[in-house]
Amino acid sequence: MAKLRVFVTRQLPVEDWEQIQSFAEVEIWPDEMPPPPDILEEKVTGIDGLACLLTDNIDAQLMDRAGPSLKVISQVAVGYNNIDVAAATQRGIPVGNTPGVLTKTTADFAWALLMAAARRVVEGQRFVEAGKWRTWSPTLLMGSDVHGATLGIIGFGRIGQAVAKRAQGFDMRVIYYNPSTDLEIGKQYGAESCSLEEVLSESDFLSLHVPLNTETRHMIGTDELCQMKPSSILINTARGEVVDQQALYQALAKKTIAYAALDVTEPEPILMDDPLLSLDNCIVVPHIASSSRATRRKMAQMALDNLITGLKGEQLPNCVNPEVYK
Ligand code: DGY
Repeated sequence: MAKLRVFVTRQLPVEDWEQIQSFAEVEIWPDEMPPPPDILEEKVTGIDGLACLLTDNIDAQLMDRAGPSLKVISQVAVGYNNIDVAAATQRGIPVGNTPGVLTKTTADFAWALLMAAARRVVEGQRFVEAGKWRTWSPTLLMGSDVHGATLGIIGFGRIGQAVAKRAQGFDMRVIYYNPSTDLEIGKQYGAESCSLEEVLSESDFLSLHVPLNTETRHMIGTDELCQMKPSSILINTARGEVVDQQALYQALAKKTIAYAALDVTEPEPILMDDPLLSLDNCIVVPHIASSSRATRRKMAQMALDNLITGLKGEQLPNCVNPEVYK
């Protein structure tokens, strides 16, 4: 019998490929850059399983190019806004993702950004590198206190909650906007549910943790930034498109808000002439919030588990469209 065929769009930190190679022929894209769309179309033709990343656009056309043999799409991430899930469901293809394993690592990193922005760590490094450190100064690079401040969280799912939990050690007031969250969950973290307007206007630090969809695209724009305190700091480890980046530039340049720290941008990578990169009060890092060695290995293994079960025709352990099984 012919072996099943699988395409993996990037090299992954998988410890043992044999678990899938024993029954499937696996082609792994070797480059650092994603396969270009025309090559991806060619590679998926007639495959049985696809493992992909958030940099790959998996739309209806690509699924049709794969054809009826395609049994599973396995995303190596918790977010899956790059995949047309409705089109997959229509075609009876389960889509897997990697929730849970990256929650704490991502929350840790949201905190790393929050602390770095509050205490101007990146500016400090640049200052030293530029040879400007000449003496101890009573007013050098004064930042904002984190302890005792108000942390606002937009999106109070797994990662938002983990961010709130970490705030307890800093004696912060935590408020969140997520109307569908059970109020009891907030109470576990000493966090208060508030309206969007309250979270925007009362937060000293505002951290975004919503998935990207039609409702959350550009949910932080000029109007929202204007409601924030001039001393406030915005942290985005969700998706770049949740923030209107031009509006953010204006807000930072005019000091409508004090600082931003972004793990995610629109587009990714951020364009080198994006004006945000010219600002001292904006930190941009290359979408690495989940990037600890242990977590990236767990994500890869989880994606592989989804892929293997999908190829076997069994229900994926982590499926974003379980309705496909009805
Ligand atoms: C995800 O999993 O969606 C993150 O953005 C990548 O770690």
